[in-house]
Amino acid sequence: MPQIDWTPDMHIGVAEIDAQHEKLTGMINALCYAYMDGKEREVLSPIINELHDYAHYHFTTEEKYMKQLGERYDFIEQHRAKHGEFFSTVIDFLLRYVSGEDTELTPELLDYLTDWWRDHIMGVDQGLGEVIRRVESGE
Ligand SMILES: [Fe+2]
Ligand SMILES: [Fe+2]
Repeated sequence: MPQIDWTPDMHIGVAEIDAQHEKLTGMINALCYAYMDGKEREVLSPIINELHDYAHYHFTTEEKYMKQLGERYDFIEQHRAKHGEFFSTVIDFLLRYVSGEDTELTPELLDYLTDWWRDHIMGVDQGLGEVIRRVESGE
């Protein structure tokens, strides 16, 4: 079961977004640890609800930056679609689990979650950070 090491190369150079990424990485790790400890739905549910709320808040923050960049960031639709994909593949499943529907958490789902999270930061979010930093430095 992977956890995510929060390493310096995961910073995208935008303080507000980096702080949110670090917090969300901690929340994802907490979910993985609790699952590995064999914790019950009652323990996992508040962690999942908090992850849902904060992921929504975080994506809204990034999309606010994208809108401010306007035409200087030409990847907005693809980036927003990636955020939507995270909700439709991971968060929706986790919420169904919380609601007691006939679903179980699996190592595969948590692998997918941690891989998606790391790949998204190292790919799409790094690209966004580059544009924000270029614009903020007045280039
Ligand atoms: Fe992000
Ligand atoms: Fe993103």
